[in-house]
Amino acid sequence: MNANDHTDGIVLWFTGLSGSGKTTTARQLFQLLKDAGRRVELLDGDELRETICKGLGFSRDDRFENIRRIAYVAGLLSRQGVIVLVSAITPYREMRDYVRSRIPGFAEIYVQCPLEECERRDVKGLYAKARRQEITAFTGISDPYEEPLQPDILINTALHSVEENSLAIMEWLIQRTAAT
Ligand code: PPS
Ligand code: MG
Repeated sequence: MNANDHTDGIVLWFTGLSGSGKTTTARQLFQLLKDAGRRVELLDGDELRETICKGLGFSRDDRFENIRRIAYVAGLLSRQGVIVLVSAITPYREMRDYVRSRIPGFAEIYVQCPLEECERRDVKGLYAKARRQEITAFTGISDPYEEPLQPDILINTALHSVEENSLAIMEWLIQRTAAT
């Protein structure tokens, strides 16, 4: 990318199951963009739930409120020409359609990974807890995840490495900015 690229209003929204690789891929892409001299911010569901989304749970209503708040901040940042990366499960199509309708440069990145693989990884031990019903309304186990039907970008973290996926998104960004 060069200094003439138009990147105003880009919000790359990583959606996918818990443990699918949203945060990891977004972090890697964040670094690639930083290294390329871009202004970039990363809004991560887990982190925001400790700050501006603190106190929200995992009911459908709370998840919606969570996403509304994240979308609001993402919109503010993107209007300032910052490339915004959001990593949040965002399990309902209606939520993602809401964000798409609010943010002009929204692009949905489906971080695809089979549930069995996410559960095998179980990085935070949450799947085991969900199976023991120590956590209720856990996405993919006891709460829905509505797969994106037509994501702008599809990456698969069971088949490809973090590096491959983040470079693929970088390529997509370069193509997109070259076209505007
Ligand atoms: S949402 O649905 O978009 O509002 O969720 P999000 O803000 O991304 O938060 C997901 C992270 O919260 C942890 N966690 C849970 N996830 C799903 N369901 C339940 N019940 C739950 N309880 C806690 C978990 O660490 C999620 O992080 P990721 O990065 O997705 O694994
Ligand atoms: Mg995460």
